[in-house]
Amino acid sequence: MITIALPKGRLGDKVYNLFAKIGYDCSEIYNDNRKLVFENTENGVRYLLVKPSDVAVYVYHGAADLGIAGKDILDESGLSLYELLDLKLGRCDMCVASHNDYKEDLSRPIRVATKFPNIAKKHYMSFNREIEIIKLNGSIEIAPLVGLSDVIVDIVETGTTLKENNLKVIERFLPISARLIANRASYTFKKDEIDRLCDNLQTVLEEK
Ligand code: PRP
Repeated sequence: MITIALPKGRLGDKVYNLFAKIGYDCSEIYNDNRKLVFENTENGVRYLLVKPSDVAVYVYHGAADLGIAGKDILDESGLSLYELLDLKLGRCDMCVASHNDYKEDLSRPIRVATKFPNIAKKHYMSFNREIEIIKLNGSIEIAPLVGLSDVIVDIVETGTTLKENNLKVIERFLPISARLIANRASYTFKKDEIDRLCDNLQTVLEEK
């Protein structure tokens, strides 16, 4: 039995369809109910539907052998996992953004609002810029608008949220996409099956 943590939502649905194509289907999964665990004992697969930001935690602790998580979640978590495949889905960029007329004040630390404090710290540390982190959990774009921060570090996909709030990208510094990740011990003990699964996924992705 292989256990796969899928992020709830659109990305998870897409990825489930890929897994189904390579034989890991579980017809129960799209029943319109609130079940969070789906299993097909015949083909030996179990899915856990979890919050996207929790996928890496399930996989790290071995509660799931495999998972699908955005590069943003992986980098922010800092957990030691195997990254097996770039699914090239859910693409976006990690960016610094601020007001259209933002001017940096070099005489003091930059106040950075973000859901990704570790990624933000690492980015600014790479060029020795002092910052003050303001950790938020969503609607980050509001922070510079009301003077809570100078800039934000956040993901930008279409750019619509920035545009509609009169903000602009200052710097794109990390391309993001969904990755197939594995628990280190699972990869050792179920290597053949996981390698086969990866090869098949790769083939299906190339056909798209
Ligand atoms: C994410 C991100 C931006 C927005 C970017 O927020 O934090 O706010 O999407 O997308 P866009 O460039 O296509 O406009 P999310 O929708 O996850 O909501 P949140 O603000 O609650 O984190």
